[in-house]
This record gives sequence, structure tokens and C-alpha cells, in this order.
Amino acid sequence: MRIGVDYYPEHWDRAFWAQDADLMKKTGVKLVRLAEFAWCRLEPREGEFDFAWLDEAVALFAARGIDVVLCTPTSCPPLWLYEKHPDAVMVEKDGSLTRTGIRGHRCINHPAVRKYSQRIIERMTEHYAGNKAVVAWQIDNELEAYFCFCETCNARFRHWLKKKYGTLEALNRAYGNVVWSGEYSSWEQIQPPYGHYPDAWMNPAFMLDYSRFASENVIGFSDWQAEIIRRKCPGLPVTTNVWFCGHMPDFYRQFENLDFIAYDNYPTTRLPEDPEECYTHAFHLDMMRGVKRGGFWVMEQLSGGMGCWAPMARMPEPGMIKGYALQAFAHGADTVVHFRWRTANIGAEMHWHGLIDHSNVPGRRFDEFADLCREAETLHQAQGAEIRADVAILFSFENEYAFKIQPQTNGYYYLEQLQRLHAAFTRLGMNVDIIGQHESLEGYRIVCAPEMYVTDMNVVRRLHDFAAQGGTVILTTRSGVKDENNNAIMAQLPTVYRDMVGAFATEYDPIGYDHVPVCFADGAKARGRQWCDVLETEGAQALACYDGEYFRGKAAVTRNGYGKGVVYYIGTVGDQALYDKLVRDAVTEAALEFIPGLPAHVEVTTRKGDGCAFRFIFNNAGQEQRFTLDGVEITLAPFEMKVITIQRTDC
Ligand code: GLA
Ligand code: ZN
Repeated sequence: MRIGVDYYPEHWDRAFWAQDADLMKKTGVKLVRLAEFAWCRLEPREGEFDFAWLDEAVALFAARGIDVVLCTPTSCPPLWLYEKHPDAVMVEKDGSLTRTGIRGHRCINHPAVRKYSQRIIERMTEHYAGNKAVVAWQIDNELEAYFCFCETCNARFRHWLKKKYGTLEALNRAYGNVVWSGEYSSWEQIQPPYGHYPDAWMNPAFMLDYSRFASENVIGFSDWQAEIIRRKCPGLPVTTNVWFCGHMPDFYRQFENLDFIAYDNYPTTRLPEDPEECYTHAFHLDMMRGVKRGGFWVMEQLSGGMGCWAPMARMPEPGMIKGYALQAFAHGADTVVHFRWRTANIGAEMHWHGLIDHSNVPGRRFDEFADLCREAETLHQAQGAEIRADVAILFSFENEYAFKIQPQTNGYYYLEQLQRLHAAFTRLGMNVDIIGQHESLEGYRIVCAPEMYVTDMNVVRRLHDFAAQGGTVILTTRSGVKDENNNAIMAQLPTVYRDMVGAFATEYDPIGYDHVPVCFADGAKARGRQWCDVLETEGAQALACYDGEYFRGKAAVTRNGYGKGVVYYIGTVGDQALYDKLVRDAVTEAALEFIPGLPAHVEVTTRKGDGCAFRFIFNNAGQEQRFTLDGVEITLAPFEMKVITIQRTDC
């Protein structure tokens, strides 16, 4: 496991650089990330480049055996660029220009931004090509699928639509523009979603396309940068860092052309009131591993209390700095880079804490980080070891966008059912992959396809085939609702999945914050919330029924034999008990290995190496836990990770 830090030489007096690099070396830091916001120091005036300071910093690290990741600084063009091109900023929803003064103001499509970005990237990559200390490039920083309403972006959107639909007739039909007299009679009439209205007030077909367009825009920008970097500095891996932001680009497509995915991992420092939420960190990490179906990096890892964008949060409790980093490793992050070495004492982020406080006196968190670096050295054997899972959960950015455009009911959000299913498998100590809906399903035994809302017929067919050939599919409510244009499918739900589910909804009730008891045939009890499909079986067996409301006695959860396989359908948004019960039954039926009786908050992940496997046992809780695993008594301190090496006989 390789540990790094994010470092900003441009924020510190030169006198600190060597001291910091010395301490990093002594502590066991193997890598630094530099320069993602440093354009004004790399090109202080138009066409005047200064790499001397960065050379000096890179050389200091190189001399201490510390590798460097360099970033293209395009997130923050210098103010001289905006002075010359005042319209190179993004345009807001109300048509006004974004004001400079924070960061990330630029429109990534503006010709001036492209021109100057190209030049700084070319200069930088040429300059560092062949420098042995530089081991990877990061493009920009946390690229989001921004909605920019400038004329350049608007023209691109019209062009994108022309390419997709060819004619206005086809476009009007796909969007159902006859509603509210919205039919376009010329391409020029097409406007982005201006105005501060909720997205749900707009045409959902139009909004889904606009979200797709925004995603493709940012993917185009990162592809464009990757091409320049590879041309000028061949041989080095290229990535960019992502997070779960409001407008996520489609990571599966974005990373097709990049070498690995890097994630910014800030697990909460205040333990959630809902104990189930503790598994969300593992969910995010599994999702990152699923993007390229292999190892990933954490490019920014929690190092101190978060602040500045919001009031300051709790400091990491003892054990969190080390435990959360090891948790990332357990889920496939072979490199974890901590944000940041030292807390900034200037600028807007001075309350987003690094490993060392403003005082520059290393304290409790730093000591724990040093301990992590020591432990990381001992884990070299597990570096790159594979994570194999029998279970996959499908994720779709189309659904992510569509559910944001049209929230379904009070309390409903796309990720919840995915996370609850993930938590149910995690509680059984099983590895889980979260993969894109277009990925191959080969090798899996159980595929969860929750909320398959926007329909892609290829995916529907592959799920049918998977079940027919003997796999288990777990489907949930809000599946088969929309066609590929985000218009409602005119059939009883779950429409295109009805035959494999062996049941259909005679009606549904979005119960929002209300809830209704759900009883399993064997007496197990759970609760339905947010949404209730009132199901009628046509071949399936009713596993659980509603025990309340006017649909008391109607099926809520079903099981159907389909071909050689099995299809479960969950017609409500359950509490965790519902998923735990169903998942345990499905896993038992599929005869998969699991660990019964793991205490809540204990996560077990297995990575398989050559000749041996590594079992990571993590206590994701603030209390000590004692339990027996394979006949061995285990005690874990809060946030402690134990790694057990098992000799394998199967390889
Ligand atoms: C993000 C950014 C960083 C920094 C941190 C903390 O992850 O990438 O530049 O702003 O958040 O706020
Ligand atoms: Zn724009």
C-alpha cells in the first residue's frame, strides 16, 4: 500500500519545503500530488512561463525518493486570462456571468480557455516528460458535469441534438414537445434550462438529454487533455479525481480513455445517527473499484476535520485516519493520498484540516498517519491483489440523472436501495462489486438491478439471459418505468421486466414519509417506506405481503423461477431488515459462501493474491468489538483493521 500527500509548495515559504520533504521521507510518504491550482505561478503573465519553482520542489522530493503526480492546472485559469476574455467564465442559470474570486470559474468549452489550456498543458508536459520523479498526471481537479449556459455551450448543445435526432420532427416526437406548445420549429429556438426553476418543472425528456450532454462535454474535455498529455509526455498514466457531486459525469465513459480512476474520499467524522449509514463508505469505495473493474487510487483522503464549505466538522476520532485509509485499501485502493499535508493558513480552505495543524506542530492525527505509513509498508504483499465478488450491483448514470430530475416521492433518492442491498451483503462478509449497467455479468452469481428506471433494452435482455442461464437477479420497484427518452412506458409495471418477475403492479402508492408493515411468509417482519407497488402474481410466489393500508394482504416482495435462475422483486423501499432477510435467503439459495453472525459495523473484505488471500477485518465503529471468526477470538479497537493472510489451496 502506497501512501501519499497533497502538497502545495506555492502556499508555503521556500524555507518549509525541504523541512516538509524531510519529514515526509522520515514518516514514510511515498508520493506527493502537486500544482492543480498553480497556473498563476506557472504562467504569471500571458506567455511567460516559470517552471523553476516547481522544478525545485520536484527535485526536493525526487532526492528523497518521493514520487510526484503533477496536475494540469486548468481548474483555475489566472486572472489575466479573464481580463482579456471576460466571457471565458461559465454562465449561470439566470444568464449572468459567473464572478471570479472563488475557483473553477472557467467554461471548459470557451475557445480562449481551450487555447490557453492547451498551451499550458503542452508546456508543462513537455517540460516534465522524461523526469523520472513524475509518475502520473491528474487532469484538472474534480471535473463536474457543469451546466454552463454560455452561447458556446448552447451552440454545442444544438449541434449535439442535431447529431442525435437529425430532424426537428424526430426531436419534437422524442421530447413530446406538443405538451404546453413546446414544439420547436427552428433549431435556434432550443434553449438550455435557464431560470431558477426546479428541474421537475421542465420537460423530463429534454432534461435527461441536457444532463447527458453536460456529461459528454466534460468527458470531451478530459479526453482532449489526455490526448495532449500522452502526445507530449508518453508512457505515463493519466487520471482525474472524482467525487459524488451534484452533477456527476458518467464515470464509466469518462474513464474509458483514462488509465485509472482516482477518488476523493472524505468519510464522515461524525458517526451517523442511522447505524446503517456506516456502510456507505464501503459502498463508495466498491463503486470506484467498479468503474474500471480493478484497482483505483484515492487522490484526496480525509486527514482532519472538514470545514470552510460548511461550518467546521468534528475532528477524526482516534483510529479514523488510519482505519479509513486501510478500509480504502481493503476495497482496492492501492495508493491513498492524504489531503493535505498541512492545513492552509491562507485562503478560503484554511479550516479544511490537513494532517498537521496551523501551528506546524505534528500532533495526534499526524502520529496516527505515521503509524499508517509504517503499517502500509507491511502490506506490500497485498498490493494489487484482486478482489473477486460473486455479487454485483448495477449502477446507471442515466438513472442518477433521471431521479434527480424527477424526485419520486418524499424521502426517495436513487442511491438508497443500492446502498441497502450493498449493506445487506456487506453484513454477510461478502465482497460486492458495483458496476455500470453495461458491464458484462459473466462470473457473477447474483446481480442486483435496483431501480432500473430509464430503460435500455440491451440491459433488459442481458438481465433476462443472466437469470435464464441460472443466475439470481434482484430487481426493485421503479424499474421499467421510462423508455430511453425518459418518457413513461405504457404498460403495467415493471413493464419490460414483467415476464421475468412473474408479477405486476395493479397500482402503486408513493407513500413518502409514511410507512407500512411488511410480513414475510415465514413470519419475518419489516417495513415498507416511500413507495408501494401493489403486486399481483402471475407465476411468482409472494414472499412478503403488506400488513396495513388499503392494500393489506397484497404482495410486496416476490420470487419467481425464470429459466434456470431466480428473480426476486422488491416492490417497496424497505427498511434494512427487509433487505437483510431477502439477501440472506438469496445467498443461501444460491449456495454462496458468507460469514454468519458478524457484528454490525464489522466489514470483512477479501483480496486474493498469488498463493494466498488477505482477509481485511475492519471495525467501522467507535466502540471496541469482540467476536469469533472461523473459531478465532477477535478483538478490534474502534476503527481498527486487522489483516489476516490465508494460504490458498485454489490457485
Ligand atoms: C475537494 C477538492 C480539494 C479541496 C477539498 C477540500 O476534494 O478537490 O481541492 O477543496 O475538496 O475542500
Ligand atoms: Zn460555456
